[in-house]
Amino acid sequence: MADFSTNYMGLDLSNPIVVGSSDLTMSVDGLRACEEAGAGAVVLKSLFEEQIEDDVQRARDEITFPDDHSEADGYIRNTALNLSEDRYLSLIRGAKRTISIPVIASLNCIRPDWWTSYAARLAEAGADGIELNIAIMPTFLLQTSAEIEDTYVRIVRSVRGKVSLPLAVKIGPYFTSLPHTARALGNAGADALVLFNRFTRFDIDIEKMSMIHRYNYSAPEDIHLSLRWIAVLAGQSGCQMASATGVHDGEGVIKQLLAGARAVQVCSVLLQKGLGVLSGMLDSLENWMGRRGFESIDEFRGRMSLELGGKPDFYQRQQYIKVLSGIDV
Ligand SMILES: Cc1cc2nc3c(=O)[nH]c(=O)nc-3n(C[C@H](O)[C@H](O)[C@H](O)COP(=O)(O)O)c2cc1C
Repeated sequence: MADFSTNYMGLDLSNPIVVGSSDLTMSVDGLRACEEAGAGAVVLKSLFEEQIEDDVQRARDEITFPDDHSEADGYIRNTALNLSEDRYLSLIRGAKRTISIPVIASLNCIRPDWWTSYAARLAEAGADGIELNIAIMPTFLLQTSAEIEDTYVRIVRSVRGKVSLPLAVKIGPYFTSLPHTARALGNAGADALVLFNRFTRFDIDIEKMSMIHRYNYSAPEDIHLSLRWIAVLAGQSGCQMASATGVHDGEGVIKQLLAGARAVQVCSVLLQKGLGVLSGMLDSLENWMGRRGFESIDEFRGRMSLELGGKPDFYQRQQYIKVLSGIDV
């Protein structure tokens, strides 16, 4: 039996396949099913900042105070904290009582605000690690890229100041210099980066003339964006890498490990085809390692990364140089 063990964010995983934050990981029963199907770890469904804000608003609507003063606001915020917290913390406690693979809590955040105190409570409830899902969509003319990147860094620094738990940051691909941002997030205290978040799709219903937000599952061809960036960043960002998006089979898992991933998150394919896909992925990995003569993942991880792959040009070319000019790169 090959050695699939990997260390991700400082956590020891029996294998690198992690069930990503999704509806599969929002109940204790779902988490148990993930463990039984062979997952190396699970990331819980995210607690969204807006959910907390909703609770604050509900509490504000329900409780009337004679004056609008800050103590009342503090009370409302604390009430809301307890409301949301109870639900999420009981999921963590239930998970820790039921399964033995690492349980990574997930916070979806857009501001470095008071709510980061949640992070400390997640730790108290027993979470083995935290994944911050940071998604800031630039929509204002005066907001610079440097300001937005600084917000990412301040969120990470703020959470790191509250907890010593392993910390991963899940981001989208829209950065001008991802290596620079990755390094800044590592310096702010991130142990790992998860590449990439998959955003809901913006769409327009032309009959109703209304906007639609759709979530669509990934397809196997969606692997290439994260594969490229894992290969570029592994070994040079100061963070460990986990891939997310487009891994649908064992081949995808192997590619991401060769690119340098410490963990490979999967989600869409499990929702579409069931958790049985996990054992198929592990079988393919074992088969491939056997054929190539590898006994452990450490023997081949990152062999195709920019750091170890030996062909820097290959990672820089984005266009059709070979096709258009005949120059082979
Ligand atoms: C139904 C569904 C719910 C999701 N919910 C979350 C979430 O709460 N937090 C999060 O960070 N990602 C969430 N995701 C994104 C996944 O964790 C994952 O990053 C994304 O689907 C890409 O991986 P995949 O190609 O294997 O699906 C969700 C995805 C799906 C399909």
